[in-house]
Amino acid sequence: MIIYINDRPCEAQVGDLLLGTAKNNKAHIGYICGGNGICQSCFVYVREGAECLSQPSDEEKAFISDKLFQEGGRLACQTVIVKEGSIRVLSRAEHLRRIVLGLNVPGFITYAQTIGYNVVNKLPSGATNLVSRARAGRLNPVDSLAKIASGIGPASLLAVNTFVETFSFMQGPVSMVTGGAKSVLDTASGVLCSVTGGKLQLPGLCCQKNDGPAASIERVTITSK
Ligand code: FES
Repeated sequence: MIIYINDRPCEAQVGDLLLGTAKNNKAHIGYICGGNGICQSCFVYVREGAECLSQPSDEEKAFISDKLFQEGGRLACQTVIVKEGSIRVLSRAEHLRRIVLGLNVPGFITYAQTIGYNVVNKLPSGATNLVSRARAGRLNPVDSLAKIASGIGPASLLAVNTFVETFSFMQGPVSMVTGGAKSVLDTASGVLCSVTGGKLQLPGLCCQKNDGPAASIERVTITSK
């Protein structure tokens, strides 16, 4: 069957975890704690097909408030596809991205209020859940930390990619962090190029509104009166 994660068609089967489906199909859902129900980076909004998914686990009930459940909130690492049907989910990052891109101020305020409500109301039960799982031997703190450490790399990359896709004009500055300063100069040149309608760009760098790199500046003359 095909399900849709962030509008991306994903091959899935009954019995699959939503998170596993996302990973197999390279769809964007975070998983910092490696699927241990700790980090909530795999939080998703189920937009369609909630009846095709497993009932919320104890971990989800501990971390997700009624308000967020009503909005379709689930943890992808805890949610199993239990029957075929039309399923559509959005990751939290994608949900937020659409609010920001749509300049949806009321939507953003509602989002912030719901998340704030969730933190205030679910922090104690979330912490209790973690402690009781550790005591029962169902959660190994050392193992969990190792998973979190190994998940931070891919999760960071995912966050950077999502950020760059959302704010493509930031591609250069982000690339500087991950790859080098040339991209920044290219971006600066591109911005200069756009602002001046293709008349100006940094020497030796590209300007999409012009053909090819600009000639180097040989001499600059400054005069004063
Ligand atoms: S991956 Fe951490 S809670 Fe699901």
